Amino acid sequence: MEDILNKAYEEGTKVATQGNVASYIPELEKGNPEDVGFVIMDLKGNYKARGQYLKSFTLQSITKVITLLLALEDIGEEEVFKHVHMEPTGDPFNSIMSFEVKNPEKPFNPMINAGAMVVTSLIHGEEKKEKIQRILEFTSLLTGNLETRYDRTVYESEKATGNRNRSLAYFMKSTGIMKGDPEEILDLYFMQCSILGNCKDIATIGAVLAGNGIHPETGERVIRKENARIVKTIMTTCGMYDASGEFAVSCGVPAKSGVGGGILGAVPGRCGIGTFGPALDAKGNSTAGIRMMEYLSRKLDLSIF
Ligand code: DON
Repeated sequence: MEDILNKAYEEGTKVATQGNVASYIPELEKGNPEDVGFVIMDLKGNYKARGQYLKSFTLQSITKVITLLLALEDIGEEEVFKHVHMEPTGDPFNSIMSFEVKNPEKPFNPMINAGAMVVTSLIHGEEKKEKIQRILEFTSLLTGNLETRYDRTVYESEKATGNRNRSLAYFMKSTGIMKGDPEEILDLYFMQCSILGNCKDIATIGAVLAGNGIHPETGERVIRKENARIVKTIMTTCGMYDASGEFAVSCGVPAKSGVGGGILGAVPGRCGIGTFGPALDAKGNSTAGIRMMEYLSRKLDLSIF
């Protein structure tokens, strides 16, 4: 086992500088591509780690898993999927075309930006302050890390430059898909994307999902079994965006990536995995993270297929 973990880390470092650190959110450009690490955690909370596994990064799109879970816990499957489909797009995560042209009545899935913003708008809470507080507390519940907070500088950086998301939100407002004030929902979405975490935090979330909602460290149920199942399924079909099909073949682990460089994996009945490597491929997925996940999957026979 130790050799496999060493080799997985070595494989990750080999491709760590292939690809580019996200620059469309200026603050993310400061990431160091050589900061590579991972954690693999079993369903009892025992874990093995390599590299920079405690380095904090912004979770970005990985938070789409968290908000989808919270919305499902808050209002249930039927209500959530009245507002968002559960179909892969084959288009980039911030594509406008994908639902404007093909499917204007609701976004394709909760993992693309449009769908994630709609999901965030469904979370219970009187106003923005209460909603972000609930998202932070729920993140703490899943990770077991009580210090969850968002990075104000990254949040402000995305808020200042997030015009693609702004156009998606206003488009959805114009068609009636988005209820509420688009500026408020955008702001909440930018805050959520800036939530900080490390490989251990996301591996723990992966282990919660892998264990059908039971927290690996406390043994307590933190989410409904059915909601864990729904989210793992959507991660498999949509979690790696327009690379989801290829990733299902090469790795076969339900996963969700973020442009901060993290990837969260959940291997049903076995373990959670959290990887980090800030350089991204053309589709916005971590090059080192994908390589390490693929290696671990092959050597430890983790594919669900
Ligand atoms: O909305 C955005 O563009 C970012 N805050 C998050 C995108 C993201 O992480 C896509 N992931 N690979």
